[in-house]
Amino acid sequence: MMKILAIETSCDETAVAVVEASGDEKRAEFKVLGNALLSQIELHRQYGGVFPSLAKREHAKNLVPILEAALEEAELLHEDRQAIPAETRDKIAAILSREPDLCEPFLDFVSESERPEIDAIAVTAGPGLEPALWVGINFAKALSLIWEKPLIGVNHMEGHILAALAEQSGEKLSISNLQFPILALLISGGHTELVLMKNWLEYELVGKTRDDAVGETFDKVARMLALPYPGGPEISKLAELSRNSESVEDGLPQARRRRGESEVFQQKNERIRPQTDSEFNLPRPMLDSETCDFSFAGLKTAVLYLLKKRADLNEREKQHLAREFEDAVADVLWKKTAQALEETGARTLVVGGGVSANTHIRRTFREKMDSEFPDSNLRIPASSLTTDNAIMIALAAFYRAERGEYVRPLDKLEASGNLSLA
Ligand code: KG4
Ligand code: ZN
Repeated sequence: MMKILAIETSCDETAVAVVEASGDEKRAEFKVLGNALLSQIELHRQYGGVFPSLAKREHAKNLVPILEAALEEAELLHEDRQAIPAETRDKIAAILSREPDLCEPFLDFVSESERPEIDAIAVTAGPGLEPALWVGINFAKALSLIWEKPLIGVNHMEGHILAALAEQSGEKLSISNLQFPILALLISGGHTELVLMKNWLEYELVGKTRDDAVGETFDKVARMLALPYPGGPEISKLAELSRNSESVEDGLPQARRRRGESEVFQQKNERIRPQTDSEFNLPRPMLDSETCDFSFAGLKTAVLYLLKKRADLNEREKQHLAREFEDAVADVLWKKTAQALEETGARTLVVGGGVSANTHIRRTFREKMDSEFPDSNLRIPASSLTTDNAIMIALAAFYRAERGEYVRPLDKLEASGNLSLA
């Protein structure tokens, strides 16, 4: 049994979690004791994306209160005066020298609270925005030093994979009965990768995007449609309106349409469809290429051209466009994933990263797995675990701890914006 305090600051969420882990690689259970998260999305919205120096400043401002909230929830926050020797103060000041806003609140906090009963401290080392990563790393190092707890550096993408592998069992999360190799499709704001997990913490890259990441494409297309950041959920909402409108337009619920579509309805429906289909057709880049690589730049450009030609789209047409865009993304993601499943022989597929929150992509993957790979297993994280959080960092840290992979000495751990799994 070990209690892990995990910290995540790779992008625009400041997150701290306390997770109690038990078991081993074969069968592990995790109880979330505390989980605090502050999203900066509202702040970054005005810039249409994440603004790194602002993200860094916000993390520095929020880490102490978020840590306190997570410890409090875990019932590990106890007031107590601690004398901090001058020498230790100097060391902390050196570690936090790049985070001047953080140093004083940090020292105030640790000098007023008892050392919590935790066994290790974990922090995201990359990939992500380096200035943002550094704040979390320096904070974790300072805590590790003052509380004398070992430090674990975690790959953010490994966190997404493990969050996708975890299943809710009662109050706990459990990871068990895994059959390697496992194929992971990682789709987030910065990543689009197919990674083969050959064994615990052993990875091989099977395919990746050659240009934009899929989340980035969602965000850019959303911006073209004058939708707020982050664009993924906004596009998804629009697209779902288009999908639903077709079934309710004539007062016929979807279920009835599926069972017995009347002639009249079909004719009516056809009058709606051609307009959506031909005019808003978008390409499916690299769909038939032999590699498992992706490309999304062409899709983004196609939307740009379409919008140049048709600057006057009404609300309904925007919904159709969003839907066609989402269809194109889902088609490409599925085709390449299916190709990779065949090539690798993996019997378990996990889909992780922020974009895996997308309703249409989730639905497409569930349906296609059922029909095309009925003997394989699909794992997609619960929606609450798809976007960045610190629980996923604690999960990944547990497996690193099992293998004794601690950071020694502390200054060995550095932020790595492009940290890769393979
Ligand atoms: O994993 P994540 O939270 O942060 C990164 O590590 O990048 O992913 C964020 C990305 C953003 O691009 C966001 O637009 C996208 O995930 N996203 C979505 C949805 N929810 C978040 N994309 C499509 N549909 C969604 N429902
Ligand atoms: Zn992420």
